[in-house]
Amino acid sequence: MQAYEVTNTSGLDGLVLNPKRPEPEPGPGQILVRVRAAALNARDHGVTRGIYGYTRFPVIPLSDGAGEVVAVGPGIIGFKAGDRVASTFFQTWTGGRMPPDASRNSLGGMLDGMLAELVVLPRTGAIRIPNHLSFEEASTLPCAALTAWNALVETGGIKAGETVAILGTGGVSCFAVQFAKLHRAHVFLTSRSDEKLEKGRALGADVAINYKATPDWEQEMLKQTAGVGVDHVLEVGGANTLEKSMAAVCPGGAIYIIGSLAGAGQINPRMINRKAITLKGIHVGSRDMFAAMNRAIAETRLRPVIDRVFPFADAKAAFAYQAGGSHFGKIVIAVG
Ligand SMILES: NC(=O)c1ccc[n+]([C@@H]2O[C@H](COP(=O)([O-])OP(=O)(O)OC[C@H]3O[C@@H](n4cnc5c(N)ncnc54)[C@H](OP(=O)(O)O)[C@@H]3O)[C@@H](O)[C@H]2O)c1
Repeated sequence: MQAYEVTNTSGLDGLVLNPKRPEPEPGPGQILVRVRAAALNARDHGVTRGIYGYTRFPVIPLSDGAGEVVAVGPGIIGFKAGDRVASTFFQTWTGGRMPPDASRNSLGGMLDGMLAELVVLPRTGAIRIPNHLSFEEASTLPCAALTAWNALVETGGIKAGETVAILGTGGVSCFAVQFAKLHRAHVFLTSRSDEKLEKGRALGADVAINYKATPDWEQEMLKQTAGVGVDHVLEVGGANTLEKSMAAVCPGGAIYIIGSLAGAGQINPRMINRKAITLKGIHVGSRDMFAAMNRAIAETRLRPVIDRVFPFADAKAAFAYQAGGSHFGKIVIAVG
């Protein structure tokens, strides 16, 4: 079978197509999946450059993919040939608190991932996908969607009428807009691009703020919430945007710490106690959370936002496209 392998930490130069990798076989408790589509996350660039941590080389990259079960190993209950499934980011975090070994068991990091024609997954590392989604759409769920769902729904318990600030329009943020609107919350969306903000409005964002044209976007959010601030902030920027997020959030509100796209910076923690803010780290989520998210997606017939689909042969171009930052939503690679 064909599979891409990250062979070293040199970035895309180290991403190599192996045209003759041995086909994996499912052992006890495992399923064999023919991958139909895989999706990129910002984290996958960190893997190719050796800065993600929890990585080994060579490794098949990408945590996210969807396909059909072609065979099951001994002892498998709950899956059969023909089932349409997606991978789970953490192969062993099924529910409850994040276990200490979760990161060592993430796909496309320490474990071979989804940018391959065939993969073997443990029973706990796959989940059925909603019927109305294509494989390409379902491939976007394991990391970006679950991260947004965990932050706003599982951790944040978002309610109708609450206000949410969502930074940027990448994969996590687009799902966050959709989940926030699904719960009838009021969404403030930021982006560097007016064109992307228009798309964000079409997705449901109520207030769109260009953070290049309005670098004091937190003041705009305060103004529009009568000086109180927003109930939830989805923080993908990191240290460089966190102080603004702490200014934008209301007393007693919550900031979900997810990414570090805006680079390094210094944090003055005083506002955390003065405003009694909750800062909550989010790391994707468990399989149980994925199941709950899938039920909501199926019931509301929510469709993931895909910016572009690349053929398997152009996987490197997909990585380069994501690095360019012009995308809105998810980037997918069609596998077979
Ligand atoms: N903790 C977790 O479990 C977890 C899970 C998934 C992702 N992440 C992290 O979350 C971040 C987003 O991931 P992703 O997959 O959604 O990435 P992505 O699809 O590549 O999205 C990147 C987007 O972030 C926005 N952005 C960049 N710099 C920004 C800034 N200074 N302020 C506001 N927005 C900014 C940009 O949106 P505009 O072009 O619209 O400005 C950019 O398009 C990454 O740091 C990733 O590593 C963490």
